[in-house]
Amino acid sequence: MAQAKPGLARGFGKTSRRDAWWVQSAATAVVLTLFIVYATWAAFQNANYWHDNYLSPFYSPEIFGQSPHRWFGPKPGWWPAVLPFSPALIILPFPALFRFTCYYYRGAYYKAMWADPPACAVGEPRNAYTGEHGWPLIVQNVHRYFLYAALFFLLFLWHDAWKAFWFPIQQMSNYNPRGQNPFPDVPVKFGVGLGSLVLLLNTSLLTFYTLSCHSLRHLVGGRRDDLSKSPRSLLCYTCVSGLNKNHMRFAWFSLFGVMLADLYVRLVASGVIKDIRFF
Ligand code: FES
Repeated sequence: MAQAKPGLARGFGKTSRRDAWWVQSAATAVVLTLFIVYATWAAFQNANYWHDNYLSPFYSPEIFGQSPHRWFGPKPGWWPAVLPFSPALIILPFPALFRFTCYYYRGAYYKAMWADPPACAVGEPRNAYTGEHGWPLIVQNVHRYFLYAALFFLLFLWHDAWKAFWFPIQQMSNYNPRGQNPFPDVPVKFGVGLGSLVLLLNTSLLTFYTLSCHSLRHLVGGRRDDLSKSPRSLLCYTCVSGLNKNHMRFAWFSLFGVMLADLYVRLVASGVIKDIRFF
């Protein structure tokens, strides 16, 4: 029996596909929109983003701010008066643009939000394909630079995950820091709370997401075109390739993970729930 040839139908939304091709794109659009709305709302709150040794990943590293997790001090004098202050607004553009320029997410939101095309072998609303070699999509090539920033941010997130297992003996809300991050001076004891595990899980997922990045594969491969000439580069390239196979999964799990971590810290900090302490 003759098979329908996919991709030959012309016109927006036209296709020979018989499956529910729009479900995946619609789900992607809904989830990404919800995440953007939640993250924007959380970033502008400038409140309930920390509780004792827990710090929301949306606010880490807290360069300037009011919490004892801050590195340098309170709101700086140079902050524009017209812009509401929040520590998250200083740092969130970096992880946000890392995700926005991610090769996987590009493929997902080009389909889900720009209908370019709406799905494989489905007609799109444009006649010409410009690709990423021309303006404006050529700027997506900055992804590798946001990878460097993401790797740097992971250091702080692992520091936060470590701190999440060391509970201050005196409540941090009673601690009044003068200037820098007070944690090195605060008496703490080891413990495990649900928040410790949530923050550890979030940082682990973000680490897998970052370490499975396509650009990292190129970077650790020594930026070579012929890997067989360098066994060490080939080994690094192969290791990242192993993680890279699951990059899509890490992209979604880490997206939910970071939202869950912020939500958990926010609910505990605002007194809606109490942190569960296992010991
Ligand atoms: S390709 Fe997705 S994070 Fe780099």
